[in-house]
Amino acid sequence: MYNILVTGGTGYIGSHTAVELIEEGFNVLIADNLSNSDAAVIDGIEKITGVRPRFEKIDLCDKSLLKDYFNKNPGIDAVIHFAAAKAVGESVEKPLMYYRNNLISLINLLEEMERHSPGSLVFSSSCTVYGQPDKLPVTEEAPVKKAESPYGNTKKISEDIIADTVKASGHLRAISLRYFNPIGAHHTALIGELPRGVPDNLVPFITQTAIGIRDELKVFGDDYNTPDGSCIRDYLHVTDLARAHVTAIKRLLHDKNRKDYEVFNLGTGTGVSVLEMIRTFEKVSGIKLKYRITGRRAGDIEQVWADTSLANTELGWKAESSLEETLASAWKWEQYYRKMKDRN
Ligand code: UD1
Repeated sequence: MYNILVTGGTGYIGSHTAVELIEEGFNVLIADNLSNSDAAVIDGIEKITGVRPRFEKIDLCDKSLLKDYFNKNPGIDAVIHFAAAKAVGESVEKPLMYYRNNLISLINLLEEMERHSPGSLVFSSSCTVYGQPDKLPVTEEAPVKKAESPYGNTKKISEDIIADTVKASGHLRAISLRYFNPIGAHHTALIGELPRGVPDNLVPFITQTAIGIRDELKVFGDDYNTPDGSCIRDYLHVTDLARAHVTAIKRLLHDKNRKDYEVFNLGTGTGVSVLEMIRTFEKVSGIKLKYRITGRRAGDIEQVWADTSLANTELGWKAESSLEETLASAWKWEQYYRKMKDRN
């Protein structure tokens, strides 16, 4: 049985990936500093899979702790590296915090991987590296543009660090997965997205408005050059995204003849506007959402969606869930989570 270290495994995408890995027969170890997640997520993973992954609270920026961790856990075959801060606005206010947290942790991890020889890395990257692409849908060949935020820059620099390390290393191979907009929750509603404070992202804001925690959703602009004037994104179900990580891990572990470093877009291949998201949410929830059009959000990209051909053909992966199913899962999670919170 392969041992997979999932850093950031109590986070939103990390926890869904841990579930899919366990269900595919992998032994999962989770390392997370809990800076933006809750250890109770481990209970959710256990309830879904019947397996409790070994969890350690650890900050990857602490080199000596990470060293100890690898010494204590020999036999790690591969790493999926999610652990990173991801709030765009916060990164503009605290750039050094973002560079330190997202880059030092990666460098420490790569150094330990060199020392302890897990030769396979899957990295959690973002379509943010494309900025506003000149051509849509965006392929992996599109140029990486100057990042709009320190957060985006950490993803771009991280990809470069990984590519350079792979090139110099005799044994390390890596895949960077560039996510478009992951949304939704596990179908059991036992794990999901847990934004701290006021959510930055659209779907948690929609579900929190629908359940009455927020007064209204602000739609950031309806004067873009899109059919209805609101921004367009490629929203994919987090479980579909999680499955892609399992596929990538299998490719690295079993298929040694591939290129040493590869990059894949992960999206549905379909662009959906903010107003379409609202309409679809209203349809699946039966709730009339309170929303108001406001000014544009600084730094927003007008429209972006993925060309997923490479992931479809090379990884054999495809996003399967419909937008309706995905939004329904987000809504189910919001209701379940509030009920749990009220009970405690
Ligand atoms: C943002 C980041 C992206 C990052 C991701 C991580 C930018 C430009 N992009 O993605 O790099 O990887 O977060 O979480 O910041 N919207 C509203 N009202 C809201 C919230 C959002 O209208 O209250 C709109 C936004 O203008 C956007 C869409 O909804 O058009 C999606 O926004 P969001 O969920 O924040 O994702 P991104 O901006 O695509």
